[in-house]
Amino acid sequence: MTSRRRFITLEGVDGAGKSTHTEWIAEFLRGQGLEVVSTREPGGTPLGEKLRALVLTDPMGLDTETLLMFAARCEHLHQVIEPTLARGAWVVCDRYTDATYAYQGGGRGLGAARVAALETWMQAGRPDRTWLFDVPLAVARARLADAREPDRFEREGAAFFERTRAAYQARAAAEPDRIQVIDSTRAIPEIRAELEAGLRQLVAARS
Ligand code: TYD
Repeated sequence: MTSRRRFITLEGVDGAGKSTHTEWIAEFLRGQGLEVVSTREPGGTPLGEKLRALVLTDPMGLDTETLLMFAARCEHLHQVIEPTLARGAWVVCDRYTDATYAYQGGGRGLGAARVAALETWMQAGRPDRTWLFDVPLAVARARLADAREPDRFEREGAAFFERTRAAYQARAAAEPDRIQVIDSTRAIPEIRAELEAGLRQLVAARS
């Protein structure tokens, strides 16, 4: 892949409000006349969506869970992400490999080394921009309480959430040029103004 890729990901713990912004980002870019594929992980392909249904509902061991995340990602990368980027279009993806570092690596306690080994095996580049939607536990829990039936991850307790959030924050600290932390306790219009400024910069750098 070239250095002028157009790959955006959104990350954050459940209840951080990230999903609200994924479609908005895609629509903003389309409004600039750009071709955009909006997608998600786990999922993004027919097989990936089947794997998503399994990992979100069926009890399984941590290695299995991690490998299934990467199996879904591998299909997604080869069938959707790489071909889209190769033709110069934009990919906006709701979660990607940072989620595995955060949830399996941090939340579940697998550690970063195993995740890194799978990332290396898959030989995928990292996104060009990642927005990390960050909120404290109380805010995330309150937002989740209003949502539909919780999945396997959303049912986890406070300690899991704190480990996952801390792992995300550590990744942002290690890669500040790529991962930008968004204070997601703020009102949606305020967050969108920040996203819009970032998107305009990204687009200008790639046109
Ligand atoms: P999410 O993206 O939050 O979708 P929804 O808004 O429909 O709940 O749900 C996906 C869940 O999968 C989320 O709890 C995080 C988890 N997940 C991982 O644990 N590891 C991963 O690598 C990915 C991509 C997701």
